[in-house]
Amino acid sequence: TINDSPKTKRVLLLKPRGFCAGVVRAVDIVKIALDTFGAPIYVRKEIVHNSYVVNDLAEKGAIFVNELDEVPEGARVIYSAHGVSPAVRADAKARGLKVIDATCPLVTKVHVEAIKFAKQGYSLVLVGHRDHEEVEGTQGEAPDVTQVVSTLEEVDALVVPDPEKVAYLTQTTLSLDEAKYMIEALKKKFPNIHGPHAQDICYATENRQVAVKNVAHGADLVLVVGSKNSSNSNRLVEVSKNLDTNSYLIDTADAINPEWLDGVNTVAVTAGASAPEVLVKDVVEYLQGMGYGDVNEVEVMPENVRFGLPPEIVQAIASAP
Ligand code: F3S
Repeated sequence: TINDSPKTKRVLLLKPRGFCAGVVRAVDIVKIALDTFGAPIYVRKEIVHNSYVVNDLAEKGAIFVNELDEVPEGARVIYSAHGVSPAVRADAKARGLKVIDATCPLVTKVHVEAIKFAKQGYSLVLVGHRDHEEVEGTQGEAPDVTQVVSTLEEVDALVVPDPEKVAYLTQTTLSLDEAKYMIEALKKKFPNIHGPHAQDICYATENRQVAVKNVAHGADLVLVVGSKNSSNSNRLVEVSKNLDTNSYLIDTADAINPEWLDGVNTVAVTAGASAPEVLVKDVVEYLQGMGYGDVNEVEVMPENVRFGLPPEIVQAIASAP
C-alpha cells in the first residue's frame, strides 16, 4: 500500500514521554495549594523547568521567586521539584515561612544518600551540572565534603583526603551514557569508591532516553518538546544526535523551523519530563499540517509510576471545608 512506502511522511510519537511522576506531583501541589489556601502562594524557583507550566501557574496566582528573601515573613512557600539545601530550609524557618515541599521523592532519595555517606566520613563526588538547582540542593547536604564533576578532566583533577573513603552520587537527569563513562572514570581513579545501591538517574530520565534510542535510527529528525533549562530534555536531544539523527529542543510548535523538515520523511516526537502533553499535541498538529498525516504512537515500555502528596497538602485537603 501507499502507506508502506518509505516516502510516506510520518510521525512517531514516543511513549513514555512528557510529565514524570515528580512533575505531576509538583504541579498538583501548587494547584491544590492555590485552591485550598488561595493566592498568593510563593514558589521558590521554577516549580519544574518548563515555561508553559510556570506561566500557567503564575496566571492562577503563584508567585515565582528566586530566593526566600523575596517572600514576605510568615507567607506560604513551595519548594520546587528540584529540591533545596538545608541552608534554604534553615532560612525558611528563620523567616517563619509556611513551607510546602514539592521536592521529587527521587531527588530526596539522593539527598538521603549524601547525608548517609557524609555521616560515615566519605568524601563525596557528585556527577552533575554545577549550575543546576538539583545539584545545588544535593551538594548543600554536605557542602564541605562534596565536589561536583561534569567532565573527565574534572575527575582527573579530583583531590580527596583519603582515596579509600570516597563515594559518588549523580544528578537524576543525566545522560545514561555520560553517567556510565563518568562512573567508570571514577572507579578507575578510586578503585574502592562507593556508590548508591541503585543508580541515581531516575526512571523517567532513563525511559525517555531509551525510547529515543529505540527509534532514532529509523527517524530522520527527532523533535523534543521541552524548555532550554530542562536538563532531561537537553539530554534527549544529545542522545539522538549521538546516534547521528538530527534533533532539536523546542518549547512550542512555533519554534519549529520549516527548513528542518526538508527531505525528512519520519519525524519522531518526544517530550521532556516537565513538558505538558498539550504542547506535544500542538507539535503533532503542526506536523500534520505540513503533510505528516500518518501519526503512530510507539510505546517502548510501560510506565505507571505515581507519587503520593506531601503531608502538608494531605492535611490541607482533609481540613478544607
Ligand atoms: Fe523526579 Fe525524575 Fe521527574 S527525579 S521530577 S521523576 S525527572
